[in-house]
Amino acid sequence: MPRSRPIVIAHRGASGYLPEHTLVSKALAVGMGADFIEQDVVATRDAELIVFHDLTLECMTDVNERFPGRARADGRYYCVDFSLAEIRSLRVSERRRADGTAPRYPDRFPKDAGHFPIPTLEEEVRFANGLSRSTGRPIGLYPEIKDPEWHREQGIDLSRKLVDMLVKHGYPATPGQVFVQCFDPLELQRLRTELRCPFPLVQLIDKHAGSVSPDALRQIANYADAIGPSIDLVCRRQQPGSAALAYSSLIADAHAAGLKVHPYTFRRDDLPEGFRDLTELLDVVLLRLDADGLFTDFPDLAKGFIDQRFPAR
Ligand code: G3P
Ligand code: CA
Repeated sequence: MPRSRPIVIAHRGASGYLPEHTLVSKALAVGMGADFIEQDVVATRDAELIVFHDLTLECMTDVNERFPGRARADGRYYCVDFSLAEIRSLRVSERRRADGTAPRYPDRFPKDAGHFPIPTLEEEVRFANGLSRSTGRPIGLYPEIKDPEWHREQGIDLSRKLVDMLVKHGYPATPGQVFVQCFDPLELQRLRTELRCPFPLVQLIDKHAGSVSPDALRQIANYADAIGPSIDLVCRRQQPGSAALAYSSLIADAHAAGLKVHPYTFRRDDLPEGFRDLTELLDVVLLRLDADGLFTDFPDLAKGFIDQRFPAR
């Protein structure tokens, strides 16, 4: 059977080139040909949904300069402790390490070379709709519900608000244009049953999961449509210190269970050990192992690879 073209999911936008989750990074990703743009979703104090990866603001913004004294006892500035108006006043820059000083990826967009705000989810949904219309190409959304249980403890039902927002903007009428992802299996089950989420669900699996058995994948297939495994679960060294790479059967097993597979995260500046470059990694995961899509910080490189190796029929 001919292979279908893998989808390119711009991980936090074209975040290899511009600070993650800024609208300019999403526009660049669309211009580079991404099929989907990702939204990590967290909430503000006034229960507004924003597109931001972390529960706390200090690694990505100037919050400590703008709001000194507003950190919790652990020294961190939680999104949920700030109103949307306050969060709108912050400026995003390239991700820094947890100590707040060195950039996480030193060769990426420089600090202070631009001023970018944090978008709300609704702003980003409107933005993607606008780009779908102006480019004539449907731009898919791929939101992730971040720490739903923690948000519920803060009094905010992130999942319900997210689904309501997407329904309000008419997304059930455009099948295939939204995937909803989460690490929490209980929340995905709740989305499927209690919240009657009309969109395909993606079970994220982090690298500490170890191996995922065929039986576990069949269980996931009872409530989800796809898995989003860490790339480390797909290919890794056979043994510590060994030059040989091992390819797990995860993708084949997931396909056998009826699940699509979209691994994360493909970065040219942070490759799994043993790979020389991104092309080699794409070759293994898309051509040899047959993944159905991928999350990448570099959508242009993934799109270029796919255009070359999966010519349009
Ligand atoms: O959602 C896929 C991938 O983004 C999961 O990890 O930490 O980048 O949200 P994270
Ligand atoms: Ca994510």
